[in-house]
Amino acid sequence: MNNCFFKKVNIEGVSHLFVCKGRSRIVNAGKVEDAFLFKRQLYASLYKVDNHILKVCYGQSIPKDIFRKYALRSQAERESKSAFILSELGLVTPKTYFSAFSLFPKMRKGVESIHEMDFLAGYDDLNPNFVHRPDCLGIIRCFGRDLAVILNAMLCPKDFGLGNVMYHPGEDKLAWIDSDLKKFKNKETLSRTVMGKLGHRFLNYLDNCQADMFWRSFCENSILYAEKNELLSYGKIDYSKNQPGRVSEDKITDNSDHHS
Ligand SMILES: Nc1ncnc2c1ncn2[C@@H]1O[C@H](COP(=O)(O)OP(=O)(O)O)[C@@H](O)[C@H]1O
Ligand SMILES: [Mg+2]
Repeated sequence: MNNCFFKKVNIEGVSHLFVCKGRSRIVNAGKVEDAFLFKRQLYASLYKVDNHILKVCYGQSIPKDIFRKYALRSQAERESKSAFILSELGLVTPKTYFSAFSLFPKMRKGVESIHEMDFLAGYDDLNPNFVHRPDCLGIIRCFGRDLAVILNAMLCPKDFGLGNVMYHPGEDKLAWIDSDLKKFKNKETLSRTVMGKLGHRFLNYLDNCQADMFWRSFCENSILYAEKNELLSYGKIDYSKNQPGRVSEDKITDNSDHHS
């Protein structure tokens, strides 16, 4: 709790008392204007000022001892730490400057914590339709490489899925956002967890040729899995339903985007 300070911040007309760490441009003024609203999600609102995003996370379960629990484990703190770890691994992820947790989350519209990060200029949301893009093989190659890098560190994002990956058209680059990393000690548990998500949140959208590209890139970069079957054996994937250039309607909505 070193270098923490208290600050009152008014978010959309409601005053919150936060325990803060770091330097924020947006909350400096003590007021987050409605006009800055960039995206409103189920569990978060994002505000954008110039090249900065302030993410306001809503609590889904409020602990009894807020000070003890949130100092290290607020949603904002977990996302900031995870982003730092991913950037250390060489992946693209927004740099976080500031995080804070609310001292009275229950009484203040459920605002649990906030953090401020870089706006990823030039990056677009990735949704299942990306398989129709002319540059989709580049995206898939990048996805395979980035996932291998994450798994090499025995980590897996809890909310892994297309909804938390952005891409840079033309640059063959992916950015990983909204990361809440879980550390694994055991390869088998990691494999099970990854396959539980990878199948229906990514692999099921791919046809055979695209899946080959994914596995080639994944295995080339993986130090944990030399063969695709080593990981694939932990989950069932049926590519035969996925014809090239066709994504069925029930796959268009990627439901990965909720916090655990
Ligand atoms: N740093 C960022 N730069 C640009 N867009 C962002 C950034 N962070 C989030 N977004 C946009 O906001 C959306 C929701 O952000 P996310 O952190 O995933 O919220 P949630 O926790 O509600 O899933 C993303 O899908 C993306 O479009
Ligand atoms: Mg998300």
